[in-house]
Amino acid sequence: MNIINWNDSLSVKIKSIDDQHKILIDMINSFYDKITKNEGKEGMLTFIDGLKKYVLLHFSTEEKYFKQFNYPAYEAHKKEHDKFIAQVNDFETRYKNGKLILSVEITNFIKDWITNHIMGIDKKYSDFLIQKGIK
Ligand code: FEO
Repeated sequence: MNIINWNDSLSVKIKSIDDQHKILIDMINSFYDKITKNEGKEGMLTFIDGLKKYVLLHFSTEEKYFKQFNYPAYEAHKKEHDKFIAQVNDFETRYKNGKLILSVEITNFIKDWITNHIMGIDKKYSDFLIQKGIK
């Protein structure tokens, strides 16, 4: 079962970025699936590592465009990215040390964060980057 499904309301109207967001959404669904099926710790840590790497790749794609075109809200947007990475690092460390149980609540936090981020702050760059020719 999926915890989140892609729909057009999540589109930033830039295909290359929508494609990355779709992969993130697939990863959140896999994360949820692994939690509900009680995936072992080693498997979860490997998955979290892959998720983090993909999130970093995605954030760096957006930030590369922001810098390239002097996007006015670059700093504020990057701060949001950095906060999210810090939060995921914190989950990972606490889970590794046995101080956190990965749960549906954590999946919901990640799902809500990504959804709110795309719908809120990501959509704000759509027109700007489209005008710069990003597809
Ligand atoms: Fe699509 Fe700002 O992350």
